[in-house]
Amino acid sequence: MENITLSINGRNITCPPGTTILEAAEQHGIQIPKLCYHPDLKPFGACRLCLVEDEKAGRIMASCVTPVAQDMSILTESPRVNKHRRNIVRLMIAEHPESCIFCSKGNRCQLRQIAAKLGIGETNLYPMPNYKPLEQANPFIIRDLSKCILCGKCIRADHELVVVGAIDYNQRGFKSRPVALHDLGLEHSDCTFCGTCVSMCPTGALSPNNTRYVGTPQRESRSICGFCGVGCSLSMGVVDEQVIEVNPSHISDTVNGATLCVRGHFAHDFLNASERLRSPLIRKDGELVSASWGETLEVVARRLLEIKRENGPQNVAFLGSSKCTNEENYLFQKIARVVLETNNVDNGGYVSGQSLLNLIDEKTDGGYRIQPLARLEKEDAIFVLGADPNHSVPVVSYYLKRAAKKGIPLIVADPRRTELVDFSSIWLRVFPGSDLELINALAMLLYQKKAYASDFIIQFTEGFDLYRRGISSLDIDRISRVTSIDVGTIEEAAELLHGKKVAFVVGHGILQQRYGRECLEAIINLSLMTGSLGTEGAGLYILARENNQLGAQDMGAVPYGLPGGQSLSDDLTRKQWERVWQAKISPDQGLNMVRMIEEAEKGNLKALYIMGENPLRSLPQPERVRSALEKLDFVVVQDILANETAEIADVVLPGAAFCEKGGSFTNMEGRIQTFTPVVVPPGDAKPDWEILALLAEKMGYSKHYSSLERVREEIIGSVPMYADPGGHGYTPWIRETSEKARFRPDGKGDLIPFSPVVSTEDEVPDDVYPLTAILGSYRYHLGSGTRTSRSKRIQEFDLKGEIEISPKDGTKLNLHDGDAVRVISRYGAVERGIRLRDGLIAGLIFVPVAFNDNDSRNLINLAQLSRHDSLGWKTCRVKFEVTIQAQRDKGT
Ligand code: SF4
Ligand code: SF4
Ligand code: SF4
Ligand code: FES
Repeated sequence: MENITLSINGRNITCPPGTTILEAAEQHGIQIPKLCYHPDLKPFGACRLCLVEDEKAGRIMASCVTPVAQDMSILTESPRVNKHRRNIVRLMIAEHPESCIFCSKGNRCQLRQIAAKLGIGETNLYPMPNYKPLEQANPFIIRDLSKCILCGKCIRADHELVVVGAIDYNQRGFKSRPVALHDLGLEHSDCTFCGTCVSMCPTGALSPNNTRYVGTPQRESRSICGFCGVGCSLSMGVVDEQVIEVNPSHISDTVNGATLCVRGHFAHDFLNASERLRSPLIRKDGELVSASWGETLEVVARRLLEIKRENGPQNVAFLGSSKCTNEENYLFQKIARVVLETNNVDNGGYVSGQSLLNLIDEKTDGGYRIQPLARLEKEDAIFVLGADPNHSVPVVSYYLKRAAKKGIPLIVADPRRTELVDFSSIWLRVFPGSDLELINALAMLLYQKKAYASDFIIQFTEGFDLYRRGISSLDIDRISRVTSIDVGTIEEAAELLHGKKVAFVVGHGILQQRYGRECLEAIINLSLMTGSLGTEGAGLYILARENNQLGAQDMGAVPYGLPGGQSLSDDLTRKQWERVWQAKISPDQGLNMVRMIEEAEKGNLKALYIMGENPLRSLPQPERVRSALEKLDFVVVQDILANETAEIADVVLPGAAFCEKGGSFTNMEGRIQTFTPVVVPPGDAKPDWEILALLAEKMGYSKHYSSLERVREEIIGSVPMYADPGGHGYTPWIRETSEKARFRPDGKGDLIPFSPVVSTEDEVPDDVYPLTAILGSYRYHLGSGTRTSRSKRIQEFDLKGEIEISPKDGTKLNLHDGDAVRVISRYGAVERGIRLRDGLIAGLIFVPVAFNDNDSRNLINLAQLSRHDSLGWKTCRVKFEVTIQAQRDKGT
């Protein structure tokens, strides 16, 4: 269709048909007042402030809902338009209460801004405030609906962007307001407290619930969320060097657009917690006491070098952080490898099964790391496995729900009825740990129907013959029994995948399970078989739990590789790094996080330097971890918060949180996002990169990192994935550097091998521990909850993390909502209240992690992930201790 030409305020403008007058005007720098319009929401036409006049037709119309037409002559500020606009604003203000003066929206209130622009002071109308009771029962959102102008943005944001549907209009006319079901408080609704509606609200009708009145922030600066691997772009409001408010940054091309989740929006108040570390501490006479930076770093340098000299480099280990920046992890592993000469370096991403992702890099030579989440809304089909993104990575769930609403088939494999199931085409209620069998069965059915991408397989893969023999020999009835899914449902799912390029969305429910590695191999096999890997808009989306899980790995904070995913065992690569670092690098793979603990237990490790991780709270069997750490001669903890591990350290170094320093994070899509400090660190705390640079100097390392730029330059110059071809700053996305150039259109790339088909061992009934516990997250906490449990708002919400059990088990065990149980595994126990929950089959229970100092870790065995004898960290066998019924029966 031909472009349309019109005039706006006398300027000739050309734009495609379908463009609204408002969009056409804004694209050409002409601003029109608006209150109910937002570019990410469907136009609504409620506020009528965007009125414009077509002087040819003599018509006045709302520009946000009216498409351009050929030869229109639009005036945005004609006397008629301005008169109408002024009247609308006067009526809105007349309906407003007098509390504007202490409204925390302050001068950011768009109604006030527009009124000021139109020169409206006194309305000269009889005030008719529409008083509504203030709602502030929850610690996140205050609703003062007296200030609501019925723009509908909150409702549309809730329905269209985050797809929750917690609020809608109630009543009509003057009484109409956006409310939750039955007009109850948000805390009694499906609201996830993502706060998206709060950021959208143009007035003070919705505002964040701050613990004290702080008014308008003195300044707002951009940053990146420090919680999960989505890497949302934030705008942080600051008063007196404290972050008091967080909103989406509302800049273009961010992963989150106008949305956030409850953690990003409201849990950053942990930054102001009293537990923040403010000065270096050294243990003297058994007590941690304040000391100067000089003295503390002197002790750290001396002790680490002594231990290396006396016991050998293998006795020193470094645990880096999936939360610290790329630059910090790069320096951290460099100090380990170059100064202490050890490959004993890992990062906290191990807990989420991050190390398994090495498998994908091995198979694809580091290719296919770039997976923009925005593509999820353009897929043929989506298959979610081992993930509950509504809780773990909420912004990903918004993408998935929006995709499902558009009609894209969504298959969810999960033992629990997660919130995503309500949006799915098929729910595969897979028995915990049997995902591998399910994936193989789907491959078998697709193969039987000849529904595989044969051209793709021939051109780009190898080993299909062996693979198809493996899947052909599978027994669907056994798989149905093992997975607890009837054959018909598996067939239905296979039918949905038939002929489609599939986006496989994989969570740590897969990576943390006993057969995590084999399961990931099976998923890659299925993605090859369907021709999905390497196809734009399909392939593998691996959900990252922590904000810089990917970056820590890319920077070489892993025991098996060098920065940029390069091989430690490859002599040529290692020699290149030796030239860059001017140092000898050991070819021996180092200790991973669990092996560090195991070796400490055996007395084979003497010193551990921990940056930004809290293994005493995040690893299984915390008491075992404690006694292992207590055996060490020297423990350094560098962190932002006093925590369980810091309590037993010999030296504690106070670091700066992400918004108190500069750096970059790599999100789960492969975006490298740089940021600068928003506020200064508390007390004497310093950015981690600066602490590491000072320490390296103290240890006699000759290279001096005087600024963050120096570290960045070294990364850019030596890690091709992070190199910026322009030579200034960072590229926004990693560069895929696969030299093998797989899936080249000319078909000359190397071939990706299918992995052999393997099966799980049959589950043996366990009479002592008859139940299976699934450990999983709630959206209010991230990981082990070290930071989120320090958020005042999260504390005040007072969630108890009740254990969920099926109604059938509830009846069998005479348990009711509110009872408390002791759940016991072979390794430990937790005590919690219980909640009966539909959507769980009998014999399964769900234990939310991060509550009660993350006591759920007591239940599982501290053994390396992906070793079959470890049984994984996602599920475990448990029993209930039956003291609770007695308590209830006694009425206690
Ligand atoms: S609460 Fe705010 S966003 Fe919602 S309709 Fe009212 S003014 Fe608009
Ligand atoms: S906070 Fe989020 S979930 Fe709750 S009503 Fe607002 S948009 Fe909906
Ligand atoms: S926790 Fe994750 S999803 Fe939530 S705002 Fe932060 S980055 Fe976004
Ligand atoms: S912005 Fe157009 S009607 Fe509100």
